[in-house]
Amino acid sequence: MFKVLKKAGILTGGGDCPGLNAAIRGVVKTALLDYQIEMIGIENGFQGLILNQTRLLRYEDVSGILNSGGTILGTSNKADPFRWPESKDGGLEYRDVSAQVIENFQHLGLEALFCIGGDGTLSAAQQFIDRGLPIIGLPKTIDNDLSGTDYTIGFDTAVFNSTEAIDKIHTTAESHQRIMVIETMGRYAGWIALQSGIAGGGDIILIPEIPYELDCLVAKVKERHRRKKSYSIVVVAEGAKPLGGTSTVHKVIESSPDPLRLGGIGQKIADQLEERTGVESRVTVLGHLVRGGSPTAFDRVLATRFGTMAVKLAVEGKFGQMVCLRGQEITSLPVKEAIRQLKLIPLDSPLIQVARSVGTSFGDEKG
Ligand code: F6P
Repeated sequence: MFKVLKKAGILTGGGDCPGLNAAIRGVVKTALLDYQIEMIGIENGFQGLILNQTRLLRYEDVSGILNSGGTILGTSNKADPFRWPESKDGGLEYRDVSAQVIENFQHLGLEALFCIGGDGTLSAAQQFIDRGLPIIGLPKTIDNDLSGTDYTIGFDTAVFNSTEAIDKIHTTAESHQRIMVIETMGRYAGWIALQSGIAGGGDIILIPEIPYELDCLVAKVKERHRRKKSYSIVVVAEGAKPLGGTSTVHKVIESSPDPLRLGGIGQKIADQLEERTGVESRVTVLGHLVRGGSPTAFDRVLATRFGTMAVKLAVEGKFGQMVCLRGQEITSLPVKEAIRQLKLIPLDSPLIQVARSVGTSFGDEKG
């Protein structure tokens, strides 16, 4: 059953990542070319629907953006319509402005809304789905921690960027016989650290899912020295934590939906390892470098496939669905089944076993 859609909106929410533009292009070109749907770009995530910041997206607006990083629509990870911060008496007050979003959606004459986002954006989208808005979700996050899909847009590029950095650090580590700690992104899930750590030959990989013991890290470095390997590469996810401890918080931002800004675990580990092993140590924090720049071929293809599938679902009237990748196949599932249950790395993951088989330490080895 095909529904004749005349006008639809599209937004990108949460942290940006490479591949967002490819997804916007996939949706908009398919909508324009295959179904003659007028497309409206909503700026800075849900903020655009709160403040009425929108613009017409023509074919030429999405032409030539396939390989560019970031998002032409802008994004925000503070634009939660159910907890919208407003200044009052020198402080901040939070208001539910979701009615404003629905009013603006209707006023614009939209019949569908494509939301490209991670857990935060899609959780807000679900609340609008519950209130009757015809929404289709597209999954993105460099952390790859959204459930319901094997891969999210941006993850492959983040792994590529992180691996490239580890490769570069490898050469200087060897020359100076140092411990080099590379802190990469990965808040609650360590997918980027795990995959780039394996790809870059990390000797130690630390992820939030496996709390580490410093003694194990020291033992690994010493064992390498006995094997005449006088340098070590430690790849650590920003959310990694010691056994019985918590993630290292750099700053608390009360106004943010996710108030903890992580950072600093790499430096901590470098200092502790230098002290315990006597091997000179350095740290490199990759930070936002891993989610900047051009998307990989994989992310461009994934985002394009997600985009075309999302439009197909909309014209079939299958609202409330999120497109996803299962194996090689693009399919979909209800948004509500993907959100609020982060996809952490299972402890019996074959990837962890593979890394252990080639001698990588996760800081939890016994004996
Ligand atoms: O969720 C993606 C992510 O890049 C995390 O890995 C990281 O902790 C966070 O976003 C950083 O957010 P911001 O860009 O707001 O500092």
